[in-house]
Amino acid sequence: MSVRRLSPNQPESFAFSAEMLKQVKGWIANYPAGKQQSAVIPLLWLVQKQEGWVSEPAIRVVAETLGMPVIRVLEIATFYTMFMLEPVGSHALVQVCGTTPCQLRGSEDLIALCKKKIGPRDHKSADGKFYWQEVECLGACSNAPMAAINDYYYEDLTAETLEKILDDFAAGKRPAPGSAIGRQNAAPEGGPMTLTDPSLYDGSRAKKIKIPNLPAKEKA
Ligand code: FES
Repeated sequence: MSVRRLSPNQPESFAFSAEMLKQVKGWIANYPAGKQQSAVIPLLWLVQKQEGWVSEPAIRVVAETLGMPVIRVLEIATFYTMFMLEPVGSHALVQVCGTTPCQLRGSEDLIALCKKKIGPRDHKSADGKFYWQEVECLGACSNAPMAAINDYYYEDLTAETLEKILDDFAAGKRPAPGSAIGRQNAAPEGGPMTLTDPSLYDGSRAKKIKIPNLPAKEKA
């Protein structure tokens, strides 16, 4: 795991928007009195939803809001890789899975495309619209290769389909997430191949079970 440090370029301050403040209060209310610190990860996530990344002033605001030492919030923000510690692209944060199943199915082509189209990994693109990084398995191996873009998974990708998706994001569109080849969830390509007989699910195969009469003492 790489060393995770706060960005050297930090804003002067941070404040939750009025809309986010409602969600902050909602999350804190989910926990019993005195346990409001349990909301630290949701609050950091709300920071990221608002700003795109987690800044040092935002960490201080979260600590103050929850009555926690700043170092505790800093530890959490720097431990979990879901929190971005520097500004990301305005249109898309692209996280390409580079772990073995995705690699065997072509993730190196996706990575090459990101390098060509966006630039070096862990940096914003020249136009500021994109930021890409290579990540470890995101749990969608059956639909490899895949990438998480902003909040959604894009699966069964090729360099061509990913390029089209990135072009759509650049144009301000929101391309539909999921399998690029129309796969149903994580079923085999072309549709389910096992357990396809409807009678397996309509109850017609259920055996009638005769419940034996129990001896009187066991009945009691
Ligand atoms: Fe890529 Fe699991 S290896 S999602």
